[in-house]
Amino acid sequence: MKNASRLFLALIGLSLVVPVFADKDPNINAIKARQGEMQIRAHNLGPLIAMAKGKMPYEPKLAGQLAGNLKLLLDLDTSRDWPPGSDNKSYPHKTRALPNIWTSYPEIGKYGKDYATSVNELNAVAGDGLEALQSKIGAVGNTCKGCHDEYQEEHQH
Ligand code: HEC
Repeated sequence: MKNASRLFLALIGLSLVVPVFADKDPNINAIKARQGEMQIRAHNLGPLIAMAKGKMPYEPKLAGQLAGNLKLLLDLDTSRDWPPGSDNKSYPHKTRALPNIWTSYPEIGKYGKDYATSVNELNAVAGDGLEALQSKIGAVGNTCKGCHDEYQEEHQH
């Protein structure tokens, strides 16, 4: 009885743990990972834009931290998050990643490089004053948007 209940508990444990680490379809995990990383970008960029627009008070320490977070994200190797075949034609309503990410590869790399340059320039000055932040924040927003215009399915309204 004791052993049987132990085995039972072990099986329950497995059934709880396994689906988290091994989704049946690895492409779904990759899609979730890249969308999560994009959400972290947006969550850090939001207050920087609000400060630049005067919608929240400029705080040098916070501005420096948020820009530093964006910079830190550049160091992530996210190549596993973009497997071929994980586009919005294969996974409608799960992803907005357009197939041309893969069919025109490595063209998207140029957008990534421009984005990285804008984040590095922002990070260098974000804590140095409101005007410094304002001078570099626009380029970051534009490089986010530039890539989305090209490679992300538009929101359905
Ligand atoms: C080099 C291209 C590229 C750059 C640069 C880029 N994105 Fe994205 N982003 C994408 C693609 C492609 C998707 C669609 C991903 C999907 O649905 O699988 C996406 C999706 C998103 C999403 C939606 C995530 C979700 O939960 O579905 C947000 C939010 C986002 N990006 C924010 C940003 C912000 C903010 C920046 C700049 C700080 C940025 N992105 C820069 C390509 C890019």
